[in-house]
Amino acid sequence: MTVPTPPARILILYYSYSGQSAVLVRRLAAGLADGGAEVHWERIQPRRALRFPLGSIFKTFALMLITLFRVRFAIQPPAADPDDPWDLVVLAGPTWSWNPSGPVLALLDEYPGFFRSRPVLAMISCRGYWSSHWRYLEKRLAKMAAIPCGPVVFDHPQSEPWRTIGVFLKIAGIAPERSSSFLGRFYRRFGHTKEQFDEAYQLGRELAANLARKTIPADLCRRP
Ligand SMILES: Cc1cc2nc3c(=O)[nH]c(=O)nc-3n(C[C@H](O)[C@H](O)[C@H](O)COP(=O)(O)O)c2cc1C
Repeated sequence: MTVPTPPARILILYYSYSGQSAVLVRRLAAGLADGGAEVHWERIQPRRALRFPLGSIFKTFALMLITLFRVRFAIQPPAADPDDPWDLVVLAGPTWSWNPSGPVLALLDEYPGFFRSRPVLAMISCRGYWSSHWRYLEKRLAKMAAIPCGPVVFDHPQSEPWRTIGVFLKIAGIAPERSSSFLGRFYRRFGHTKEQFDEAYQLGRELAANLARKTIPADLCRRP
């Protein structure tokens, strides 16, 4: 008689300000679930909601400036239990001024129990400049005795300088992709593409298949 193995259990903790990480996570979770894994996904909730868009150029500059200094954004306690036997934790969210976002920084400070002694896969949504974000995250996770995996990075595929101008204006509340001026010709879409969201789904399928065999793809995790 064969004893059925319990499904792999994955916890996804994410923050999303302008919705891009939220869609990536939704697709990843769908891929994991369709692959037979048990998934709990949860958005980290800042104590003071940050309005999107900010609605002003000045506020956008100010946010980009303060986040350079890794300012923490206080968060509500997550609903998930860090003591549950998660086989994998996915930590997802945007890059803010070359760093993890303020709510993710607060999560790392206040709730290290989610990460300790576990494989933690970083999923990053960014305009295109994520490497110091990852270096910082990897160091923090290693210090908590987590096993840092990834990162899986999704950038905005538009060319420069349009994607930088586009992200800035979008946060400020001006939708550049709808502009009838020359900007709208060069910047047709904010954020990720459907193909990238499909990639997140496929990643979920692949991870679920690997976790069912108690492995993580070698290219994602150096220490199995
Ligand atoms: C305050 C702030 C700072 C940002 N800084 C960076 C950055 O340093 N590098 C980068 O590639 N993208 C940066 N971005 C762009 C976001 O990472 C990108 O738009 C991401 O897709 C947003 O994900 P979200 O919709 O889940 O919040 C920044 C966005 C904000 C709001």
